[in-house]
Amino acid sequence: MMDVPGLQALRGKTVVLGVCGGIAVYKAVEVMRLLIHAGAEVFAVMTESAQRFVTPLTFETLSKHPVYTDMFELLPDGGIGHIALAERADLVLVAPATANMIGKAAGGIADDPLSTLLVTTKARVLWAPAMNVNMWENPLVQENLRKLERHGACVLEPDTGMLACGREGKGKFPAPEKVVAKTAELLGESALLRGETVLVSAGPTWERIDPVRFVGNFSSGKMGYALARQAVKLGAKVLLVSGPVALEAPEGVRRVMVESAFEMRQAVLDWIDEASIVIMAAAVADYRPARVAPQKIKKEGSEALVLELERTADILGEVGTRKGSRFVVGFAAESENLLENARRKLREKHLDLIVANDITQPGAGFGSTTNIVTLLDRDGTVEELPCLDKEEVACRILERVSAMRGTRELC
Ligand code: CTP
Repeated sequence: MMDVPGLQALRGKTVVLGVCGGIAVYKAVEVMRLLIHAGAEVFAVMTESAQRFVTPLTFETLSKHPVYTDMFELLPDGGIGHIALAERADLVLVAPATANMIGKAAGGIADDPLSTLLVTTKARVLWAPAMNVNMWENPLVQENLRKLERHGACVLEPDTGMLACGREGKGKFPAPEKVVAKTAELLGESALLRGETVLVSAGPTWERIDPVRFVGNFSSGKMGYALARQAVKLGAKVLLVSGPVALEAPEGVRRVMVESAFEMRQAVLDWIDEASIVIMAAAVADYRPARVAPQKIKKEGSEALVLELERTADILGEVGTRKGSRFVVGFAAESENLLENARRKLREKHLDLIVANDITQPGAGFGSTTNIVTLLDRDGTVEELPCLDKEEVACRILERVSAMRGTRELC
């Protein structure tokens, strides 16, 4: 075992190498050799088709571990292969990944040792597909890959070049060094939130007055989107409920777009059962027009327009009251008595943590790329953060959440 520059993250890590049936299997042998050389412990799982190309003995000899090929055979120590390996893995690398295995995993099918392990594991999965160009370009294969990405997996795109079938195109298994470097990169990202499902709300809500007008606010959604992006990086599964914003969905996040507080509440409640952590970063409208005019309101004959507003549901308050074992984080955007108001919201909404910001300070709040926040937790700890980029603020919030959830091992 030795440290290879740039690959230090592999040292002491357990990688499960899922090998599917394709001509690139011989390159997976080299991937395994490089992973071990960089200090990782590697366990191979081979599909039946993979064994038609290379025998398990090759991987067994290199890894010094039996290769897992039979779902119904116990491991030498009596363990159930797909469960033991799924739990032990710091990362599962599927290389080469075939269209068949990608399809099975995207469909949640578990009918062979590798697909069963993929359904069982909570570890990050890196897919290194290799196939004929037509198979690669098939929209169903692409759709399946996007689905896997939305659920937190990472896909290493194949190279373009001369394929085994004699065709020129995309589908070539990348150089083993590239696959190993990507594995190291993913393992290098800390896994503070692995196993958690984080539900984030972001952006403003728009409350309709008539078909062309609404009551809204200046929220850009940047803080919530930064939280979603960083939570994925920390290994969480992320569900994002977004009000109307012009931001792209962060990679690996499942997003639903909503317009009003009513729709946002519905979307949050639809996903709440899946979530172990809820972070309400959205600037939800507290009031909406009591009646939405079915036609555009005309100005003729009236010098002033009086809108009657009614309260919207307090989504965070509702989540806090029925939180169960969930960890709930709220935001408090204040223009006066910052700490006092934040403390009151923390208590009244049954929160574990509140992120308070004084929106009157330059560099804080709506629209800005930076934020100045103070974290107040249920135990009375107050932490004032300096002016930071919203991505960094998101990291600090999530680190605190993770620390309060219990000490988890850093990758
Ligand atoms: N929030 C919510 N639903 C609402 C209003 C707010 O879920 N209808 C959430 C926000 O996402 C934020 C927190 O509650 O996380 C605080 O919102 P804020 O509007 O500052 O607090 P309020 O409790 O509404 O109090 P006030 O408007 O009086 O400051």
